[in-house]
Amino acid sequence: MGDKNSIKSKGKMEQRKNIALMKSLDKAKNRKKIPKSEYVTEMKNKDNILEIDNLATYFFTDSGVVKAVNGVSFDIPRGKTVAVVGESGCGKSITSMSIMRLIQGPSGQIVDGQIRYNSEEGPINLVNVPISKMQELRGNKISMIFQEPMTSLNPVFTVGDQIDEAIQLHNPKLTAKQIKTRSIEMLELVGIARPEGIYDAYPHELSGGMRQRVMIGMALSCEPELIIADEPTTALDVTIQAQILELLREIKDKVNASILLITHDLGVVAEMADYVVVMYAGRIIEKGTAIDIYKNPQHPYTIGLLNSKPAVGKVVDKLYSIPGQVPNPINMPSHCYFKDRCEKSFEPCGAIYFKLRIFANTFR
Ligand SMILES: Nc1ncnc2c1ncn2[C@@H]1O[C@H](COP(=O)(O)OP(=O)(O)O)[C@@H](O)[C@H]1O
Ligand SMILES: [Mg+2]
Repeated sequence: MGDKNSIKSKGKMEQRKNIALMKSLDKAKNRKKIPKSEYVTEMKNKDNILEIDNLATYFFTDSGVVKAVNGVSFDIPRGKTVAVVGESGCGKSITSMSIMRLIQGPSGQIVDGQIRYNSEEGPINLVNVPISKMQELRGNKISMIFQEPMTSLNPVFTVGDQIDEAIQLHNPKLTAKQIKTRSIEMLELVGIARPEGIYDAYPHELSGGMRQRVMIGMALSCEPELIIADEPTTALDVTIQAQILELLREIKDKVNASILLITHDLGVVAEMADYVVVMYAGRIIEKGTAIDIYKNPQHPYTIGLLNSKPAVGKVVDKLYSIPGQVPNPINMPSHCYFKDRCEKSFEPCGAIYFKLRIFANTFR
């Protein structure tokens, strides 16, 4: 009995501590004036457009703390494509929303780490910048393409109105005529035939693939340095998927942007990415060049993901899928989160969570 009560009161204390942490983070974030010294920083490597360093984003819920992103670090070099892959729920979207500072407070908070952005005026840590600064960057220097374009396009305005608005916001000096010309150029750039017609159309009059093209056009209209594409083709059928990816790749080279491509589909990554980051339960379990990951994967989870992807010319009776489920995000074990699903699991896996290791024998 006594034990039970002491566990209960310990839980209560823990809960109080968490609420206090959540409140203090929220207060710090919403301060009116944030001194520059709090967010001016240095890049580790000036060739990177973004450096994510030990990022932790938690949700403080009534039933406990969800460590959605739990110590994630990776770099995005300028002009390159970095793919983040992993099963649903592993923290991919929360990572991208942390970069954009779109995590819903007060329950959602970035609790630790840095997101260093190599801006024109010098490196800044996005975790600490004032929201007003972030609003300047969003949809301007850093653009995001979401999974479902219908939810991001406004149904009551024409496609043209919406692209015009995006362009006008970032180029207040242009005349209405110049803006329209630019919008039509954008529609052309994303491969829309008959752009003048589509300019006057409403979103619901377009197919899913066309809408996604429009979204990409809007995201690119301001010539961003970094494009974050969160499952940009998941809602589309396979042939359209390939076209959209091809389009993203072409455009990236035209505007010399970097892409953060988020997907649960390793097949999508093969053609697109220079670097691959594999996430599992809020952590990175493997990262490397795309060639490393495809030719010489090291982690059993990565190998499992690769095996669960259909291959052309390979006859299989049944697609492989990794058995078991991701552990409950509240109360994660202190040992490897993949242990109970892993074919290679052995005694040391039950010990304290391991750190990432560099393998010297990876394919170059
Ligand atoms: N608003 C929220 N409140 C509590 N938990 C959340 C919230 N949003 C996301 N999560 C949790 O964070 C984890 C990561 O989610 P997410 O990044 O969306 O995964 P995905 O890799 O599929 O994009 C999941 O366990 C999810 O349940
Ligand atoms: Mg997601």
